[in-house]
Amino acid sequence: MVEKKIMLTGFRPTGKLHLGHLHGNIVNMVKYQHNYDNYFFLVDWHALSTEYQNPLNIKNNLIECAIDLLALGIDPGITHLYRQSDIAEIPELTLYLSMITPLSWLERCPTYKEQVKELKTKDISTLGFLSYPVLMAADILIINADIVPVGEDQLPHLELTREIARRFNGLYGDYFKEPKELLSKSTRVVGTDGRKMSKSYGNAIFLSDDYKTIKTKIRQMITDPSRIKITDPGHPEICNVFSFYKIYLKNKTDEIENRCRDGRIGCIKCKDEIAGVIYDSLKEFQEKRKILESDTGYVRNVLSAGKDYVRNVSSATIKIVREKLGIE
Ligand code: TRP
Ligand code: SF4
Repeated sequence: MVEKKIMLTGFRPTGKLHLGHLHGNIVNMVKYQHNYDNYFFLVDWHALSTEYQNPLNIKNNLIECAIDLLALGIDPGITHLYRQSDIAEIPELTLYLSMITPLSWLERCPTYKEQVKELKTKDISTLGFLSYPVLMAADILIINADIVPVGEDQLPHLELTREIARRFNGLYGDYFKEPKELLSKSTRVVGTDGRKMSKSYGNAIFLSDDYKTIKTKIRQMITDPSRIKITDPGHPEICNVFSFYKIYLKNKTDEIENRCRDGRIGCIKCKDEIAGVIYDSLKEFQEKRKILESDTGYVRNVLSAGKDYVRNVSSATIKIVREKLGIE
């Protein structure tokens, strides 16, 4: 039997999942998990690099996030689901990798420069935040993953991972593979205010929202401001509600566009319709989620089995790395 390639990705457990999350790496993991040997983990240590002032938030979100992932279709029969902080070998590898990572690689990382500029509300001028990509490299290399599903924003980190792997192999002999990205088509999901959907903007539709909540949120959205009467011709290309149609009713966009341009439908009706479509797409998830919520013991068992398996794999890697460094 040909051994399956390894697919691995991490997810930040920083809160309730919303529609924006659905089009990122989770979907790719669910879709391709049958083709690979899969590792999916919740990166609570990474979350700590920005949330260190309120660490309990991470703790509370972690199990909720694991429930979300299982309800979305991550199958623990074929995907090892685990918590980053359960794998003590990761920080050990991070330490070794940090010895060979030039500071300049981290300082020039675009995600670092951007966050330091943007995240004004938090003090992230810390060693932990600067070395975020080294921790991520250790996550990936400890498993020697082949494929890493990520969003576009994570590409610089993956490039750094490859550079670190190359440096390690050059210094101590070939061992680490250079992982490749599996890019999620970055469907930018707009929030109810037209900006990128994000919990921190308060513009998100959550996967757990019921129909009434979704309807209310969508009703508040700004559409084409030139439409006052139902018969006024509309311009779907500037309407945020239409951007949901493009995601959720791909095959019917012509019809929706025409009825808007011809002034054959009012915005309220058009909004309620897409609210219904979005809600329907979440129903199965919400039902599964309810079952899992009432059985958190099961969820904890999944994470615990993930931990046992991944620790075995990781300690084998650490053993080899230690040998290469003469630490035995
Ligand atoms: N940095 C990633 C993010 O913010 C999460 C992450 C941590 C990750 N470790 C990883 C993703 C390893 C892929 C592989 O989305
Ligand atoms: Fe947007 Fe629909 Fe109103 Fe057209 S009819 S402007 S697509 S909400």
